[in-house]
Amino acid sequence: MAALLCVCLAVSLAVFLNLSNEPADAAAASDVDSPDSSIIVVNKDRPLAAEYVPQDLVDAGGMLLRAEAAGAYTRMVADAAADGVAVSAVSGYRSREEQSRLHTSYIADYGQEGADSLSARPGYSEHETGLAVDIGNPDGLCALETCFEGTAAGSWAAANAHRYGFLIRYPAGAEHITGYAYEPWHLRYVGPETARGVRDAGVTLEEFLGLPAAPGY
Ligand code: DAL
Ligand code: ZN
Repeated sequence: MAALLCVCLAVSLAVFLNLSNEPADAAAASDVDSPDSSIIVVNKDRPLAAEYVPQDLVDAGGMLLRAEAAGAYTRMVADAAADGVAVSAVSGYRSREEQSRLHTSYIADYGQEGADSLSARPGYSEHETGLAVDIGNPDGLCALETCFEGTAAGSWAAANAHRYGFLIRYPAGAEHITGYAYEPWHLRYVGPETARGVRDAGVTLEEFLGLPAAPGY
């Protein structure tokens, strides 16, 4: 009888713990607002908190990324190399000051409207989250140009990046939703589950998560 009571209590405790954990896990898996969430959504409608600086940045081949994204990026680059494709890092984490300098240089080259379709204003860039990386070919072929999609690194990433939790965040033809022209080089870490879901659905991250389009500020 005592043994039966013990089993009942243990089962009850397990059920209670599971029930009380599930909402927290579900909330974490759908937290598009907290800067430390791997699925935080940053766009022209959703700036980052002004004071946010990621606390777990690590080196990932000459640039900084948050630890989870860096681990996934390192595995991805190693597997691409095993397939005979060299992938290099062009840009990872950027501070708000770095993003500001970069955006100002785009304005000088393209004017405000042109700059806004290519580069985020400071406070609005995924690069400030430490979860975004611009990739390239080591020889610089088609660096930060649309033709990157047809290069070895670009086509390998398009076919495989989701397996490591990365999205091509600004797909072709989606500027009315994402606010940016096609960037086949800009990969955003969201984790493998979300990356696979977005890819299978063939939509933008905003659409997948049921968030409003963000074509402008
Ligand atoms: N090029 C992307 C949109 C950025 O500046 O974050
Ligand atoms: Zn980028």
